[in-house]
Amino acid sequence: MERVTVRVSGRSYPVIVGSGVLERADELVPAFPGATQAFVVTDRIVHDAWFPPLAAALDRTGLHAVPLLVPAGEEAKSLDGYRALLHQLATQEAHRDDPIVALGGGSTGDLAGFVAATYMRGTPFVQVPTTLTAQVDASIGGKTAVNLPEGKNLVGAFHQPRIVLSEITALASLPERDFRAGLGEVAKYALTIDIELLERLERDPSAVLTRHPVALERLVTRCVLAKAGAIAEDEGDTGRRLVLNYGHTLGHALERLDAFTGRSHGEAIAAGMVFAARLSEAQGTGADGLTARTLRLLSSLGLEPAGPMPPAEDILDAFQLDKKFRDGVRFILLEDVGRPRIVDGVSPDEVRRVLHEMGAPV
Ligand SMILES: NC(=O)c1ccc[n+]([C@@H]2O[C@H](COP(=O)([O-])OP(=O)(O)OC[C@H]3O[C@@H](n4cnc5c(N)ncnc54)[C@H](O)[C@@H]3O)[C@@H](O)[C@H]2O)c1
Ligand SMILES: [Zn+2]
Repeated sequence: MERVTVRVSGRSYPVIVGSGVLERADELVPAFPGATQAFVVTDRIVHDAWFPPLAAALDRTGLHAVPLLVPAGEEAKSLDGYRALLHQLATQEAHRDDPIVALGGGSTGDLAGFVAATYMRGTPFVQVPTTLTAQVDASIGGKTAVNLPEGKNLVGAFHQPRIVLSEITALASLPERDFRAGLGEVAKYALTIDIELLERLERDPSAVLTRHPVALERLVTRCVLAKAGAIAEDEGDTGRRLVLNYGHTLGHALERLDAFTGRSHGEAIAAGMVFAARLSEAQGTGADGLTARTLRLLSSLGLEPAGPMPPAEDILDAFQLDKKFRDGVRFILLEDVGRPRIVDGVSPDEVRRVLHEMGAPV
């Protein structure tokens, strides 16, 4: 079992990573004075596997666990889903001291977190992430949101959890595509922040790919440390947090244009990281061989960019819509692995050229 402390906005909370942490929730979660119930937001699949042991552990702390079922996946993150949860909390007389627990992937966590941020102006929140994406990324940092028909994550709030319990054994049942989507974020941390993790994955990715629990515990812990470091350093307004968006500019554009591509988030940011490496080299900021090294890593993780690219002009239009790029096109590039650099004002012609090299038609 590993413990990482996340420090953010003047407070801190633990992330516990390991096999069997969910059953031990009673020993790990902090006391919630005044609480009598815990509202566990979860989908049917995750509920059937993990609600019973979690409820038993919470019961040992004197909290009666009430399941609140939501649709599986992204569909959960709607205003209707949000409204339905608020009504259920109100009818069941949820009190502002009662914790709301997110049990599931990033979609469940984003929705449950937004409910916890807003119901009675904020209730205690606990994250129990069960996907790789949620364990290495979504459960840490306090970003919560639901979608509007007009776009993803358009309504949300910051609300930090009191504790994150990352149950490693849950990852065994994850569908391959969801697991690989999480590996896209893992590759991001390895390329931008944690060179030792990169070198380990380069030496031998097999233990991770076969989901050996010890390898996954180490992997998740290192990624949590990387994310915790990036969000803590950003408190000084250094822009360090931006590094977490590496590969995401093109990634988000491809997802937005997904009528053309159908990539998962992990596949989309994998293409985005190849693009960023190519652009880094083309701009003369990136070390020679950066693209080749990126491609080697991604293909060893089963994330080699594939599938058709949308037209370059459509991608450029999508960049303009990205909320982080209001003042012209800004990219997170690499001088080399582990050395990110924010570059403003990259010329559209240069961007077009790299997109064409990657197979985007004119
Ligand atoms: N808040 C943040 O900082 C942040 C960061 C990254 C991603 N996100 C959000 O996270 C969402 C994606 O989350 P995700 O990739 O975890 O997927 P997801 O939450 O959409 O879940 C995908 C599927 O996995 C299933 N599942 C969950 N755990 C399982 C398990 N242990 N075994 C078998 N099946 C399981 C679910 O039932 C669901 O069908 C997106 O909405 C994204 O915007 C948020
Ligand atoms: Zn991402």
